[in-house]
Amino acid sequence: MSFNLPTESKLLKKDFVFGVATAAFQVEGANTEDGRCESIWDRFCATPEKVLGNDDGSVACDHYHRLEQDLDLIQSLGFDAYRFSIAWPRIEPKPGEWNEQGFEFYQRLIDGLIQRGIKPYATLYHWDLPQYLEDKGGWVNRETAYAFKIYADKVSQRFGDKIVSYATFNEPWCAAFLGYRLGIHAPGLKDDRLGFQAAHHMLLAHGLAMPLMRVNAPKAEHGIVLNFTFPYANSQSIEDLQAAQFCDAENNHIFLQPLLEGSYPAIVFKKHPDWSPVQYPGDLDIIRAPLDFIGVNYYSRSIVKDSQDKDFEFVDENLPKTDIGWVIYPQGLTDQLKSYSDRYSNMPPLYITENGAADNTDCVDGVIDDTMRTDYYQQHLQSLHTAIEQGVDVRGYFAWSLMDNFEWSYGYSMRFGIVHVDYQTQQRTVKKSGNTWKSFLEERP
Ligand code: FCB
Repeated sequence: MSFNLPTESKLLKKDFVFGVATAAFQVEGANTEDGRCESIWDRFCATPEKVLGNDDGSVACDHYHRLEQDLDLIQSLGFDAYRFSIAWPRIEPKPGEWNEQGFEFYQRLIDGLIQRGIKPYATLYHWDLPQYLEDKGGWVNRETAYAFKIYADKVSQRFGDKIVSYATFNEPWCAAFLGYRLGIHAPGLKDDRLGFQAAHHMLLAHGLAMPLMRVNAPKAEHGIVLNFTFPYANSQSIEDLQAAQFCDAENNHIFLQPLLEGSYPAIVFKKHPDWSPVQYPGDLDIIRAPLDFIGVNYYSRSIVKDSQDKDFEFVDENLPKTDIGWVIYPQGLTDQLKSYSDRYSNMPPLYITENGAADNTDCVDGVIDDTMRTDYYQQHLQSLHTAIEQGVDVRGYFAWSLMDNFEWSYGYSMRFGIVHVDYQTQQRTVKKSGNTWKSFLEERP
């Protein structure tokens, strides 16, 4: 089996990058080894009832110890690129102390990729803030943005252009809003104002780091990864349309607009002046640093309707869902890419940095027949093809994820891998979806 795309598809051109993605906390384990300090996710997992099954990241996929084998696996599947994240707690386990053992692990990872002909795509922040920074207020504290700037400087100095693509942040929406506004992710705070303040400081951190990263890695691409759950109005009524527009501003343009235009969407803080973050003059100019790319993570869409007592309400849809409960709606990828590319005239080239499905199909006699995930990939590749046909500039696509891993507040209960992980034995078994990727990548012209 392989994925089908029209033969003239830009996705099949040589320079289109296909990769596979993971993140440090979700796969590495070894969270007390070689000088790594505690992160907010270690603390969150250790707090009862925060993570399903009270699962934690102490072992995860044991990727820290199985690096070579996992790099061989990526190579055997035929991907051009690997998107991984660097754990700040390994690099700077105490304020201002730079841990050589931490650098060495990523050095081995990066060199191992290059030796295998795989391009390293790195994310500097995929949610594992050192706990000592959280103890001083975490992302609500402006100082954290400056600490990030120094961390980003050190990492990009060390690895330079060996990393071909640097993303400052993965999904600041999740890190700020799930973490500080909705209490679902670490550090588990629940306050609108804190959520927007954390978001502002993440954007500021991004903007402060970008110029330094450019100097340290002049040939690499530099950008940021955002996630959007594109909202559709439940009807064409003016109320529903406005509800969807507000939802889009509050969750999506709240990141895109400061990054690309140096301003926040006015309707959000007009309606909720108390959500407005504390800013210093000039912050928005820093945030608007030129971007080489934006990474887009796409999983699902949402439907939004007007509400009497809230800004809007989500409507539950009677459509097929993945095992995590997210509606399968491939067309949403085209619509969203088109909508945002039309809205921003200075939209940089895009990458789909994550796309994939939770499909918990188990291993039977050594075979994992994850047809739902395989179909999901086929449909979303087709949808991406359509977006590109319609003029959206997308340069690459990364499947989430290389292997089953720690799915944040869902613990190990949700499997997103194209490779199955047996958490008892740490055995990796390529699933049907993984084999389909392999055939597809091999058969490319
Ligand atoms: C995204 C995260 C990634 C993974 C997928 C399923 O929000 O970036 O780490 O958990 O969702």
